[in-house]
Amino acid sequence: MAQDRQALRWWQRSVVYQIYPRSFADANGDGIGDLQGIIQKLDYLNDGTPNSLGIGAIWLSPFYPSPMADFGYDVADYCDVDPMFGTLDDFDELVREAHKRGIKIIIDYVPNHTSDKHKWFLESRSSRDNPKRDWYIWRDAKPDGSPPNNWGSFFGGPAWTFDPATGQYYMHQFVKEQPELNWRNPEVQAAMLDALRFWMKRGVDGFRMDVVGLIIKDKELRDNPPDPDANPNLPPNDLFSRQLHIYNQDQDEVHEMIKAIRATLDEYPDRCGIGELWGPMDRWVRYYGENGDELQLPFNFRLMYQPWSAKAMRAHVDEMEAALPSFAWPNYVLGNHDQIRLATRFGGQAQARLAGMLLLTLRGTPTVYYGDELGMENGKILPHQVQDPQGINLGIERTRDVCRTPMQWDATAYAGFSSVEPWLPVSEDYQTRNVAVQSTQPQSILSFYRHLYRLRRNSPALLGGSYRALDVEGEIYAYVRETDGERKLVVLNFAAQPARVSLPGFASGKVALCTHMDRNGESVDLGKLELRAYEGFVLEV
Ligand code: NOJ
Ligand code: CA
Repeated sequence: MAQDRQALRWWQRSVVYQIYPRSFADANGDGIGDLQGIIQKLDYLNDGTPNSLGIGAIWLSPFYPSPMADFGYDVADYCDVDPMFGTLDDFDELVREAHKRGIKIIIDYVPNHTSDKHKWFLESRSSRDNPKRDWYIWRDAKPDGSPPNNWGSFFGGPAWTFDPATGQYYMHQFVKEQPELNWRNPEVQAAMLDALRFWMKRGVDGFRMDVVGLIIKDKELRDNPPDPDANPNLPPNDLFSRQLHIYNQDQDEVHEMIKAIRATLDEYPDRCGIGELWGPMDRWVRYYGENGDELQLPFNFRLMYQPWSAKAMRAHVDEMEAALPSFAWPNYVLGNHDQIRLATRFGGQAQARLAGMLLLTLRGTPTVYYGDELGMENGKILPHQVQDPQGINLGIERTRDVCRTPMQWDATAYAGFSSVEPWLPVSEDYQTRNVAVQSTQPQSILSFYRHLYRLRRNSPALLGGSYRALDVEGEIYAYVRETDGERKLVVLNFAAQPARVSLPGFASGKVALCTHMDRNGESVDLGKLELRAYEGFVLEV
């Protein structure tokens, strides 16, 4: 279905650029990124010139006060800024400066759990009859003293910790410093919805909602069944991956809560809800709401998990296009702060360019991760450098530190990220892979991305046009994006070998953009289009 560009909402038109605040830019020289650092780099994201990335929205991972047991996903106060990142005044300045440049602000909202240092939890754990006891999930031990059910924590071990002071267990599906809120309690709902209002009043345009499908659990907290297909080589403490997640997430009743969240967003004009949601497509699609009354963008992570194959990518996109009801807007993600870097996952720089072309030309909102525009690869993290609790508890091969290394701005010490040794090591390739150097190279991946972003924002067909895949042979994925008066043909060669392809229904075209950046503007014969290894084209047809 084609959509008029004018009628598109900002969250449909924009590329969403994820910033991990600790790792983007350090303005006060303590080795950790901060809000002033982000403000100083806004022009890089969008300065309004044609060569700018032209980012329309940034999503900031948490900057709330936090003991940092899970690097900010353990929130100690939903309505403030951790001094490490700055102040509420800095945040207000960030909103003003971003809006001046046409950049919307999306912040992380962590509804499922707080920090164990949040005052709500301190009260809750203080006695069994404290008024906030029921704000969290407390249960008695089984008669033998073991946890109330068999659920495992994502980060290893059981999802329960015994608190001797009051003689009960509390639930945490992440680290034990992340106790889970009881969203069945109306006071919790009210307090959490108020946190959304607090930020919307300050000008926040949208929220990325952390594991929002977990906020309601089975009423009886029944045991999860074992997963018969679990990997037999899991670390012994990985109870979580040995189970089917029937009772701890994605309960039917969660949709009532998400409707309440959406109704709160709708108290303010044009706000957007993005959800971190997993699971099979038929259940996932329900998070758009029966009539579009839940989230505008339930994150779709499935492209990340496709094998590197034209057929697999096409099959996923076609399935997505078919699964969505007419009011639902697609979205695609290729990287974030929990995943290995895109260039590493798909096997190299050439693949990273091709994947970027796919992401930015599909129908739907793309979310990109900081540094992917430079082709940043996984950082090298030595055993003594592991910081992430997932890496500490489940083994270094699972550590997410690899994708959180400092943004690479230039070739000076610490990549221009900081004046002192950063909290995670700067990647070894920073002297050549950085914004300053790649900006001077017309064929660099950054130059490619700048061109690609410009092409997308200036093309009604790429922004809102229909999507139609073409049947072509081999490892080629080809599709047409079309709207009244404009048509673009995208042809992507996923093979490590050159290919020649005939595009049914097309005689000739002009290359608007080529991944290799050396054939832009060429006229080509679409009866026998030649593509090099991992080459992709956006064509005017
Ligand atoms: C998902 C977040 O993306 C991840 O970084 C975090 O560790 C967990 N949720 C827990 O909040
Ligand atoms: Ca700092």
